[in-house]
Parts: sequence; C-alpha cells; structure tokens
Amino acid sequence: MNRKYRKTLIAGNWKMNKTPSQTKEFMTQLKAIMPKGRWCDIALCVPAVCIPAAVRAMRETRVGIGAENCNANPSGAYTGEIAADMLVDAGCKYVIIGHSERRAMGETDADVNAKVLAALNEGLIPIVCCGETLEQRDADVTAEHIAMQIKLALQGVSEEKIRKVVIAYEPIWAIGTGRTATPEQAEEVCEHIRTVVRKLYSSKHARAITILYGGSMNEKNAYDLLAQPDIDGGLIGGASLVPEKFVQIIEAANQPVM
Ligand code: 13P
Repeated sequence: MNRKYRKTLIAGNWKMNKTPSQTKEFMTQLKAIMPKGRWCDIALCVPAVCIPAAVRAMRETRVGIGAENCNANPSGAYTGEIAADMLVDAGCKYVIIGHSERRAMGETDADVNAKVLAALNEGLIPIVCCGETLEQRDADVTAEHIAMQIKLALQGVSEEKIRKVVIAYEPIWAIGTGRTATPEQAEEVCEHIRTVVRKLYSSKHARAITILYGGSMNEKNAYDLLAQPDIDGGLIGGASLVPEKFVQIIEAANQPVM
C-alpha cells in the first residue's frame, strides 16, 4: 500500500452467494463490528437482486455497494442483462468487470473494454480484473498476458477517466483454491501492472492508481499481502461472506503510512 499517493480499497466479491434476506442479516452484523477508522475505502459487490437490500442497509455508512457485472449497452433488447445506469440508479458505486469466472463464460477482452467504458460513462468505478492461468505462469508468459489484458481493457479510457479505475490482479490458480500467491509473487505482478499503466498514461497516473490483489485472501494472509508497496487492497471472495473475517481484513489494511 501507499496511502500517500493512492487509495486503499478492501472490496468483497460475493459471487453467487446470499439471498436478499441473508444480505440484510450480513449487513446488520457487519455494521455492529465495523471499525471506526478511515484508513481505507470499503466495497461490497453483491448479486444484482441483493443490491437494493445492501444499499438500504449501508446508506448511512462508508461501505460502497457494487455489482458483479454490467452490460456494455445503454439499453435495449438484452434479456436478463443490466445496464450501468440501472446500477447507478439502484445506488451502486462500483462494478466488477472482467472477472475470470465471467471470462470463462465467454467474456472477451473486447467485451471487458466495452463494459469498462460503459461503467465510466455512467460514473461507476470499474474494478477491472486480470490474471493468468497456472499454465501461463508455468510457461513464463504471465507478464505478457497481464499487459495485454490491461491494454485491451483500457482502450479508449481517457487520462481523466483512468483516475476512476481500479485494477484487480487475480491469478486464476489462486481463486477459491486456498492457494494464495505469496506476497512476493503478488507484488511482482501488481508492480508490473503499474508499469503498464505508466507506459499507457504517465508516472503520475501510475502512482495514483489503486491495484488490488485477489485470490484466497483471508484474515490470516491479508496483512503481509497489503504490506507490499504495490498492493493497494484486496478483492475478496470467500472471506467476504463472513462479517468477522471481512472486518479482520479491513483491520489488516490499517498499516503505517509509507
Ligand atoms: P476467493 O477469495 O474466494 O479466492 O475469491 C477471489 C475472487 O475471485 C474475488 O473476486
């Protein structure tokens, strides 16, 4: 982390977990144990049907609610899809874009790029995901693959709008597997992502962008991951479903300012 130059963000990704009723219950429990300090931003990205309950419960708090996906089109005949302005109107501040689980369902780099542009256009903060498979890591093409994903995702994003973008590095082999990247492995790629942003934009933009790590981050390993200079927060799956664990990760982000 480097709170002098950029924001720290602890974000949960609930994936396809919890009903609206369970969302209400979770938020009540979370509010009761939420740390008072303001050392980081906090987000919870929840299933679309849970957004109203989450927004209602967290209205007077500093927890921003997000969605897990959006459609790139502003409106139209896209049965089952949700547009970015609908999310804004429902009270969302964030939207996860290009998660590997969605890419596995057929989402391409071009789709990711179109969604990033749509989200930014409506004032949402896109949390743009990238990450390599184990095969890519073993073949030593992680850096290339990540650079390509980031370049394609950010095509057409202006210098002004890049300030609103959050990038999440999520090695696919570490998601839901209990196999976390070591702090050094995660730092190496997050630093690389910052270099890619520097080349695409400028040193100033690279220094200011928030880069998260995701993949089996939990209350035990969070402190060491967040202590790395280029890891500005976490995108947390499983551990964000339990209020106590999520709060412990928020507390792990309370580290001396570098
Ligand atoms: P886990 O924390 O469950 O590994 O999930 C990570 C993730 O995919 C967050 O988007």
